[in-house]
Amino acid sequence: MSTGKKIIVTGGAGFIGSHTVVELCKAGFHPVIVDDFSNSEPFIVERLNELCGTTLPFYECDCTDKNAFRKIFEKERPSGIIHFAACKAVGESVAQPLKYYHNNIGSLVVVLELMKDFGVNDLVFSSSCTVYGQPEQVPVSESSPSKQAMSPYGYTKVVCEQIIEDVIASGQALRCVLLRYFNPIGAHPSGRIGELPRGVPNNLIPYITQTAAGQRSSLTIHGNDYSTVDGTCIRDYIHVVDLADAHVKALEWIHSETDEPLREVFNVGTGKGETVLEVVNTFKKISGIDVPYTVGPRRSGDVEQIWASTEKVEQLLGWKARLSLADALRDAWNWQKQLKA
Ligand code: UD1
Repeated sequence: MSTGKKIIVTGGAGFIGSHTVVELCKAGFHPVIVDDFSNSEPFIVERLNELCGTTLPFYECDCTDKNAFRKIFEKERPSGIIHFAACKAVGESVAQPLKYYHNNIGSLVVVLELMKDFGVNDLVFSSSCTVYGQPEQVPVSESSPSKQAMSPYGYTKVVCEQIIEDVIASGQALRCVLLRYFNPIGAHPSGRIGELPRGVPNNLIPYITQTAAGQRSSLTIHGNDYSTVDGTCIRDYIHVVDLADAHVKALEWIHSETDEPLREVFNVGTGKGETVLEVVNTFKKISGIDVPYTVGPRRSGDVEQIWASTEKVEQLLGWKARLSLADALRDAWNWQKQLKA
């Protein structure tokens, strides 16, 4: 079982990484945080210490810097890695593709090289439902084919999944779980950690909470002429604490079947789709705030509708989302309010 295992968490001060650190501690793992604060803040590490009731090992390090990262492996001798550290803004990836190829692909290559050098085999990798594009069928299952990526960001996820497959085929004794996240939202119920978008948010939920807080004047809904119940796009919004828990389940499962090389892909979503308008209305219910919005044109690269088939993750990992959209919006709003204070 988990107990006592030391796990390097790259991007451990980031949105999903920080929540995963908390869940790892709760489950008896010993997380080691590695982050370069390129899209996160040092105060999150202090808050993690507070939430976990201990001083967690922490290293400020860019994961593409192999020499610096090697020293962390030497010192910590981890038994596994969860590799979150990556750039994730779709629009920015179109403007600066090399930044995305360098960071997202470069960091995975370094992680895999160091794992080989130090005989570390267990890896949980952050992938995305973006690899499906617009699937032929919803809910989408893991066997649905990967599509032509809509952006350099999306392409880095496709390539990283392939790199892991190639490395296993070459004989490296990897045991790897790839988690394809749907739309992670929410915040820790304590209100101490959450999402910290820099500048104008691209994603729906931070845009809604910032508008509700008066930082933005109005939300623009990107298109209402899709073939959905109210014309707006459908996504599968997953509470970040549930998503964090899926990483713990993945690490616990990774040795349960076999010690042989392994590469298994799982969708991590709720299995339910919600339209943009349903999200706006649910936010109104939980906060009492009617977020002003206008309807704009479609956003380029958006798929019409996607939500997860969760059969595989439920059966193999024994994981299922427990929290609702309303829970996630309540926690995101709670987090936003204390940010303003
Ligand atoms: C986006 C990325 C996806 C990435 C994920 C990470 C794109 C095309 N996709 O997913 O690859 O893995 O973030 O979290 O950017 N919306 C509005 N108004 C807004 C913002 C969003 O109407 O101001 C709508 C979008 O059109 C979409 C839904 O809200 O229908 C969710 O958008 P968003 O939160 O940006 O996530 P995705 O686009 O699904």
